[in-house]
Amino acid sequence: MYKILSADNLAANIYRMVVKAPMVAKHCQPGQFIIAKVDEVGERIPLTICDYDRENGTITIVFQPIGNSTRRMAELTAGDSFEDFVGPLGRPSDLIDTPIEELKKRSIVFIAGGVGTAPVYPQVKWLHEHGVTADVIIGAKNKDLVILEDEFKSVCNLYITTDDGSYQRKGMVTVCLQDLIEKEGKHYDWCVAIGPMIMMKFVCKLTKEYGIHTVVSMNPIMVDGTGMCGACRVMVGGEVKFACVDGPEFDGHLIDFDQAMQRNRMYQTEEGRAILKAQEGDTHHGGCGMCGGDK
Ligand code: NAD
Ligand code: FES
Repeated sequence: MYKILSADNLAANIYRMVVKAPMVAKHCQPGQFIIAKVDEVGERIPLTICDYDRENGTITIVFQPIGNSTRRMAELTAGDSFEDFVGPLGRPSDLIDTPIEELKKRSIVFIAGGVGTAPVYPQVKWLHEHGVTADVIIGAKNKDLVILEDEFKSVCNLYITTDDGSYQRKGMVTVCLQDLIEKEGKHYDWCVAIGPMIMMKFVCKLTKEYGIHTVVSMNPIMVDGTGMCGACRVMVGGEVKFACVDGPEFDGHLIDFDQAMQRNRMYQTEEGRAILKAQEGDTHHGGCGMCGGDK
């Protein structure tokens, strides 16, 4: 069992939990995710790690209830436990394997959209701890949905923009990025964008025009996080990849977001899953592709 040490609301319908999971905390790296299970019958919920404390053996997760399982998860409070809390899973962010001297030469901008702000934090914090200060754009629908502002302020140059202009800048993250480059003399050669698929699509469209290498996190299309269900199958530069095994981060300019979003919608229904399975044959699953994990 994995005890929840604290649970609070970061904003309406956005929950944060600190969970005792010493082995995960010991080995995890920014960019990786965990799978939580509320109890024996609960579904597996893949969530990107938002923070970790190796000394205290804790992992911080942030989530938005969208289905039955995450709604049940939101009802848990400090003192309750998860039946399972497995990780770290997925590949760490590429930044972690890049020599620090190389990172110091880069001009890095992170684009964090809505709940996707949470998984951006460990990467920015890790860079800061290694002497690299990045720019971060947080985008939220309105003032009340801006999360982790204080945490980010201490580890980066922070720009906040809200769709309705109720806090700081007005407009979507793409407007802010464009303004920073066109009007405020900023230059970037590396971008990490994490948020809703539609945001990542339009960030990639823009950064392609500017020639900025862009990494995105395909966490939103994951279901069981094992490589077996086939939910997170995505074409990257014409190759079949699975976000939970080969990612979650990929070169955003190689992803066909329209196809990924359409496939994601199809995967929501039994009929859609059956069609995808028939169309994709052995490549429908990750892992060995022969397991029949979703039969
Ligand atoms: P949201 O809809 O409030 O959008 C957040 C910000 O993204 C907006 O404020 C805006 O600046 C930007 N954005 C949205 N649409 C855009 C567009 N068309 N063009 C340019 N910018 C745009 O976000 P939310 O409701 O918090 O998002 C929830 C989604 O985030 C879920 O779908 C969830 O799966 C996803 N998410 C993704 C990750 C990840 O790893 N990529 C992690 C957590 C959550
Ligand atoms: Fe099921 Fe990746 S989430 S295959």
